[in-house]
Amino acid sequence: MRRTYDVVIVGSGAAGLTAALKLSPHLRVAVLSKGEMSGGSTRWAQGGIAAVLKASDSIQSHIDDTLVAGAGLCSEDAVRFVVERGQRAIESLINLGVEFDRSAPEHHEDGYDYHLTREGGHSHRRIIHAADATGKAVQKTLNQRVLDEPNIDVYEQHVAIDVITNRHLKNKASYTDQAHGVYVLNMKAGRVETFSARSTIIATGGASRVYLYSSNPDASTGDGIAMAWRSGCRVTNMEFNQFHPTCLFHPDAKTFLITEAMRGEGAFLRGVDDERFMLRYDERAELAPRDIVARAIDSEMKRTGMDNVWLDITHKDADFVISHFPNIYRHCLGLGIDITREKIPVVPAAHYTCGGIHVDQMARSDLDHLYAIGECAHTGLHGANRMASNSLLECLVTGNAAAEDILDRQDNSPPPAIARNWDESKVTDSDEEVVVSHNWKELRRFMWDYVGIVRTDKRLARAKRRVDLLAGEIQEYYGNFRVTADLLELRNLVTVADLIVRSAQQRRESRGLHFTADYPDLAPDALETTLIPFGRAIAGRVE
Ligand code: FAD
Ligand code: SIN
Repeated sequence: MRRTYDVVIVGSGAAGLTAALKLSPHLRVAVLSKGEMSGGSTRWAQGGIAAVLKASDSIQSHIDDTLVAGAGLCSEDAVRFVVERGQRAIESLINLGVEFDRSAPEHHEDGYDYHLTREGGHSHRRIIHAADATGKAVQKTLNQRVLDEPNIDVYEQHVAIDVITNRHLKNKASYTDQAHGVYVLNMKAGRVETFSARSTIIATGGASRVYLYSSNPDASTGDGIAMAWRSGCRVTNMEFNQFHPTCLFHPDAKTFLITEAMRGEGAFLRGVDDERFMLRYDERAELAPRDIVARAIDSEMKRTGMDNVWLDITHKDADFVISHFPNIYRHCLGLGIDITREKIPVVPAAHYTCGGIHVDQMARSDLDHLYAIGECAHTGLHGANRMASNSLLECLVTGNAAAEDILDRQDNSPPPAIARNWDESKVTDSDEEVVVSHNWKELRRFMWDYVGIVRTDKRLARAKRRVDLLAGEIQEYYGNFRVTADLLELRNLVTVADLIVRSAQQRRESRGLHFTADYPDLAPDALETTLIPFGRAIAGRVE
């Protein structure tokens, strides 16, 4: 089965849908999601979106805060590009119908009637939000708008496998080196289909599910990063994995975040004997940047042998707590914790992938007509540590930038090429699914143990040996058996794990989110870690 579009977008989160809406008045667009439309991280975002929205704040202040959090590795141009476009991006969401929280008139700041909250590293209140479920509000509105657009076709349960490059073409001599769409496993029909397109956008989100404990939904397996790498694109700064300090610790809770905005509104972190231990680690206490807070919690847990620490907002008025955090209040109450009266048990968990596919300001990757937007991309905005709520902002800005570039170039783009069909003549159905489930668990466990919040040379070397072994097994399995969604994800996870470990091994210093006990100090020069693929990829099986 072959389908042809002007643009195929892999991913239906904030980044992918923003690009789709910008393109759809002019071009025919396919949006793919490997699960349902709301299956990515966007749906789960809590705190909000950072932008300069009131007169007493300033673009320069947001830029400065982002640069400080990024620990010397942000690109100032990239930061300025994103921050300057913040207000317009928020206005677009409001125009589309997202209902952000408003302040009571007596609390309007500088005449601004939306409520702005605070999070770590931000020197102003600049986080616009929809209670503590901002992502749900954004995703719902974007879904509705996209489904109303006649020029956009949405394909759920469609797993992109690999980017179609020149080596997959019947008539490759007619084309310069570029992307031509993607091979896709249609899970409903159980077959691999060819989606041909003049331009391809990867918007597949992050890779935090490479770790055993993560705040992310199942979809965050780094598929787009691995696909781009196999198609010959560089990836940058993959060692900077952000661990969110406060995920709910409860046997019946699967990956539930307690937003940083709760600390922004005054919650304390407490350890043994109720001590507010953050005061010992950083003068900004609970509002220090995330890497500092996550490391402090990790260190307290290791020092005291506790399984978790506590987040305490019981000193605030109960009505205030319930009205600001209704979603968290209900969720915790369902597990028997009344957060207005009881402390919340929390632990750090893998949350955000700062590195990714190397792109320029217009979201162009190394392969012509291949774009990367949102969390899967490395734009230079986050540097060595992402500041809270800058991510959704980046999704909106880079989604628009990619679309603008595609629209600018559309008259000069060649028609979609004819790619060869996917070849299944040499594979059979698997008789050993256990290999996939076993390797999946093993990978995520050793990544947590050896490549987590605190690293050492020895731990990284251990992880590398295991990655190499698993990569060999998985590649052999992939070569022999028909693809399934689980196998495709595992194949991508092991690639991403390899990129993370190799990047971490190259960084012989501690900077931002990368902390190694063997090199605890900052190196004098702040340098990016960019990995370059050897030649072009073995991307997919073709006739
Ligand atoms: P996602 O929203 O993750 O979407 C990825 C899409 O790609 C999905 O549709 C998925 O199905 C699809 N996909 C993936 N692989 C494939 C494939 N092989 N084939 C087809 N489709 C595929 N950031 C903020 O700025 N503010 C916050 O308050 C905030 N809170 C957060 C809370 C939580 C619990 C989490 C997990 C993250 C939070 N973040 C927050 C981070 C932010 O939500 C994400 O970085 C952002 O939503 C990523 O958006 P995206 O469009 O890049 O990808
Ligand atoms: C949170 O609400 O704490 C998450 C914010 C973010 O990851 O940007």
